[in-house]
Amino acid sequence: MTELLQVTNITAGYGDGPAILDGAHLTVEPGKVHCIIGPNGAGKSTLLKSICGMLTIRKGDVVFKGKRLNGMRPDQILREGICFVPQERALFPKMTVRDNLRMGGFILNDQKELDRRIDGILERFPILRERAEQHAGTMSGGQQQTLAMARTLIIKPAIVMLDEPSLGLAPKVIQEMFDIMKMMSAEGVTVLLVEQNALMGLKNSDWGVVLDLGRTLFEGPAADVLADPRIQELYLGGKKAA
Ligand SMILES: Nc1ncnc2c1ncn2[C@@H]1O[C@H](COP(=O)(O)OP(=O)(O)OP(=O)(O)O)[C@@H](O)[C@H]1O
Ligand SMILES: [Mg+2]
Repeated sequence: MTELLQVTNITAGYGDGPAILDGAHLTVEPGKVHCIIGPNGAGKSTLLKSICGMLTIRKGDVVFKGKRLNGMRPDQILREGICFVPQERALFPKMTVRDNLRMGGFILNDQKELDRRIDGILERFPILRERAEQHAGTMSGGQQQTLAMARTLIIKPAIVMLDEPSLGLAPKVIQEMFDIMKMMSAEGVTVLLVEQNALMGLKNSDWGVVLDLGRTLFEGPAADVLADPRIQELYLGGKKAA
């Protein structure tokens, strides 16, 4: 098997509340873009939070590069190379773009190396270089999302998980975000995203996962998810893939 991350039939919930996920599974292959779709409340965000250690996994397994992650803390999972960008992006609005990038590297001890990596990111994302000394909160939604994605690259992650990266952005800007994700995956950073705009998410991904009522109903090549008449009917607004 070539999978990088394997989630097998997990059960998880908040505190000692009811199970929100029950029977969620997922296969993540290196260098691909993976998109989780499903209705509101399906458990999509809960699945990402479970993988990155924010919730306790009650049953099932999360295995990354052959290592079981169950029970590990979020910072330990980050050090393993799995980086999570929550829906609200978790930027520091009153800090500059440069300092936000610096915060993304808090697990690095070598300050010189951190500075080199920040310069490298600013080099790659001209819009961030232009605004390096500007407060993050003063930038547009698309620029902030670019910063949130670019910041993950500071630690040279294996997997970047993005919860609704397109939220609140104009269609043209959304496409730019998908282009960044494709660039990341082409460079070997595997992407796992949750997308409310299922059609657009799947069209820009290699792998699709349909989650509903806390369980995985289908996973496979994104083209197969798009072509499935039942999934079209239930989860893609009855629209045929163009
Ligand atoms: N912090 C929390 N404490 C308790 N229950 C929660 C919490 N966050 C989410 N839930 C519950 O978990 C269920 C799944 O929520 P989740 O946010 O994972 O869904 P989602 O698929 O991401 O939905 P959306 O498309 O609206 O973002 C919902 O019933 C929700 O009420
Ligand atoms: Mg959500």
